[in-house]
Amino acid sequence: GRHELPWRKTHNPYRVMVSETMLQQTQVQRVIPYYRNFLKRFPSVEALAEAPLSDVLKAWSGLGYNRRAKMLHEAAKVVATRGGAMPRTREELEELPGVGAYTAGAIRAFAYDEPEVFIETNIRTVLIHHFFPRGRSVTDKRLVPILEACIAEVNSPREWYAALMDYG
Ligand code: ADE
Repeated sequence: GRHELPWRKTHNPYRVMVSETMLQQTQVQRVIPYYRNFLKRFPSVEALAEAPLSDVLKAWSGLGYNRRAKMLHEAAKVVATRGGAMPRTREELEELPGVGAYTAGAIRAFAYDEPEVFIETNIRTVLIHHFFPRGRSVTDKRLVPILEACIAEVNSPREWYAALMDYG
C-alpha cells in the first residue's frame, strides 16, 4: 500500500467517502489535488451540507461526472439532518444518496478497518489473475467467496485493501 496517498493518512469516514466518490471514475493522480482542495473548502460533513450546490460544483469542476458531486452533497445533507455523525453500518451507509455497495464497503474497510467484502476494478484484476488465469467473463459473484476467505485471514482490512488495490 502506498502511504503517500492523502486519503490513506486518514480514518475519517467523511474523508473516505469523498475520496472513494472521486476515485470511482477518475484516476488516482488526477484525484489528489481535487481531494485536497475539496477538503480544504469543505472540511466536515456539516460544512459540505451547508454549502450551496454551486460551490460544490465549482470545487468539482474539471473532475467530470458531476452527478457524483450532487450525490455527495445530498449524502452530506442527509448525514447532517440525522445529527452529523457518519454512519458505520453497511445498511445505514447504503441509505445515503450515491453510496452503493462498493462505497459502503470501502468506507467500512478504510475508515473503520472492518472486514468487508467489496470489489472494484483493481481488486477484480488481482483475483482474476490469480484464481481464474484463463477466466473470460468471471462474475463478481464468483469472486466474493474468494475475497471472503482472504479477508477472514487478514489483521487489518484497511492495509490489506490498500495493498490489494495498488497491486491491481
Ligand atoms: N485507496 C483507497 N481507495 C482507493 C481507490 N479507490 N483507488 C485507489 N487507491 C485507493
